[in-house]
Amino acid sequence: MGIEKNFSNSLIERVDDANKILKKYLPSEEGYASRVAEAINYSATSPGKRLRPILMKETYKMYGGKNQLIEPFMAAIEMIHNYSLVHDDLPAMDNDEYRRGRKTTHAVYGAGMATLAGDGLLNLAFETALSAVDLAPDKASVIIKATRILGEKAGIHGMLGGQAADVDAEDRHRKIDENELQFIHENKTAALLEASLMIGAVLAEASDEEVKKLEEIGKAVGVAFQIRDDILDVTGDEKILGKHVGSDAENQKSTYVTLHGLEKSQIDVETLSEKAIGLMSSLSKKNMFLDELIEYLIDRVK
Ligand code: IPE
Ligand code: IPE
Ligand code: MG
Ligand code: MG
Ligand code: MG
Repeated sequence: MGIEKNFSNSLIERVDDANKILKKYLPSEEGYASRVAEAINYSATSPGKRLRPILMKETYKMYGGKNQLIEPFMAAIEMIHNYSLVHDDLPAMDNDEYRRGRKTTHAVYGAGMATLAGDGLLNLAFETALSAVDLAPDKASVIIKATRILGEKAGIHGMLGGQAADVDAEDRHRKIDENELQFIHENKTAALLEASLMIGAVLAEASDEEVKKLEEIGKAVGVAFQIRDDILDVTGDEKILGKHVGSDAENQKSTYVTLHGLEKSQIDVETLSEKAIGLMSSLSKKNMFLDELIEYLIDRVK
């Protein structure tokens, strides 16, 4: 079996593993709030790449983490990511009808219920992460440290801050410059990827120095990931991508592609990914799958 075949099989296994773990923490659909539970489950069980929980577990394993302590955090980061997507697609934000090849949550459940489903996912993420103390009562201090990273990277100093700058530029029809676009990409997208790597390392009790390097790696991978997302919004195939192509142009958004053009954009995806792989080799531990995953993302089509 060739290297590529090996990698894609490993990736499929890991997606499967992340799906199983996430499912354990999703709400049951019962009682008077059952509709919001349905909307939460509709969004969370749709076929995403599960990149963030996969990155988290691989980093955990890289530093010798072996037990289930990582699982509630894998579910939590995917819940936060899904909440960000449900809200991102709302009519008041990007107004998108398709995601992961399916109707978006608001298109099925209405904007009010989709807003609540997003809020519900965000709360559930923290309940889930902190339930790790039931699995490992003696690890409370690393669990708190990891939860703080989750909160910071998801909130105003992370994903939400980036989304807010993005919405502000769009609402006020501001043309943004390179610095502001960098801020948006580092926050709306890279922050959760940074959190994934950092939390995996923190829970496996890696040193602060290693965690810092992983934050840097997450930033490079995350910015590259969003540049590629901006490229796919122009050149992607809707059937493969599972979301509407041309959404950014319809919203008259400034993106990496509108600022730098397609060719330079893809060159920067490559340069940033190579930088990340270079930084990976400066870590005290090695995980070949992670290196391959970063490389695979350079030319991703979905
Ligand atoms: C989409 O993220 C939003 C961005 C940050 C670009 P993903 O491309 O990871 O979405 P899924 O989870 O695979 O659907
Ligand atoms: C959104 O960026 C990133 C999030 C935090 C959800 P985009 O708006 O470009 O993501 P897509 O293209 O809708 O997935
Ligand atoms: Mg958006
Ligand atoms: Mg969007
Ligand atoms: Mg996009």
